[in-house]
Amino acid sequence: MTAPFVSHSHIEEAATAVRQRTSHHPTIGLILGSGLGSLADAVENPDIIPASDIPHWPTSTVPGHHGRLIIGKLEGQTVLVLQGRVHFYEGYNMAQVTFPVRVMIALGVQTLIVTNAAGGMNPDFRPGDLMLIKDHLNMLGIAGNNPLRGPNDNTVGPRFPDMTEPYSRQLRQLAHDVAAANSFSLREGVYAYVAGPSYETPAELNFLRMIGGDAVGMSTVPSVIVARHAGVRVLGISTITNMAVPNPAPGTVLTHEEVLETGRQVIPKLTTLLHGILQHL
Ligand code: HPA
Repeated sequence: MTAPFVSHSHIEEAATAVRQRTSHHPTIGLILGSGLGSLADAVENPDIIPASDIPHWPTSTVPGHHGRLIIGKLEGQTVLVLQGRVHFYEGYNMAQVTFPVRVMIALGVQTLIVTNAAGGMNPDFRPGDLMLIKDHLNMLGIAGNNPLRGPNDNTVGPRFPDMTEPYSRQLRQLAHDVAAANSFSLREGVYAYVAGPSYETPAELNFLRMIGGDAVGMSTVPSVIVARHAGVRVLGISTITNMAVPNPAPGTVLTHEEVLETGRQVIPKLTTLLHGILQHL
């Protein structure tokens, strides 16, 4: 599927293929950044479907990274966990990037929980912090690449959907409560979505900070917009993996390895948080 817009029949074909492989009816979707495999492993009675078995599903061209859907029970909830998302910077268009969340919605998902890695632009943040996303800056969308561009399916949502509260206030409060019960705290802030794959220049970071960004990253926002269009409530959690500041110490170089390593260190905290949230939904 390389057409610029998603076709209703492709979504239905994919959803049908998933339904044929599971008897679960997931109402909660989780799109997890890399490293959260243990959470997926905790799903009980799982039906595991390789993404490559689902028609029209965008699968990564990297061997061994095809992605999979894990559908089953977690903390008493029926969940669909998506491991291995695809990104705009890989060359996928917005229709492909948001195809998985559209299928989740067709399957009956009403709550979406997304995690990602992000650079911290707010100088109060530290690598290893967890930030609840309270709002976003869709830099690609503002520039003309909104995932809802193209024909609108009125059976899913309105042509001009409201975005007053993209990230559920109620779910953010629940996340804060779960964190407090486990003796840690969460940041909250605005996530600036950029295309990547190059990290930001100092001038770009100055700009993104000036317009209200607290963290910057290369995922999540297209899925969130598609989910909100359909009335799905959303919780977004960023792991601050590195500082993204315009004036780093001389000689500072940002690498993907640093991002991955910090992400790994935070996994236990993030896993505790997600389990706690699911228990209380
Ligand atoms: N910039 C963009 N995306 C990111 C970063 C960053 O600094 N860290 C993790 N994802």
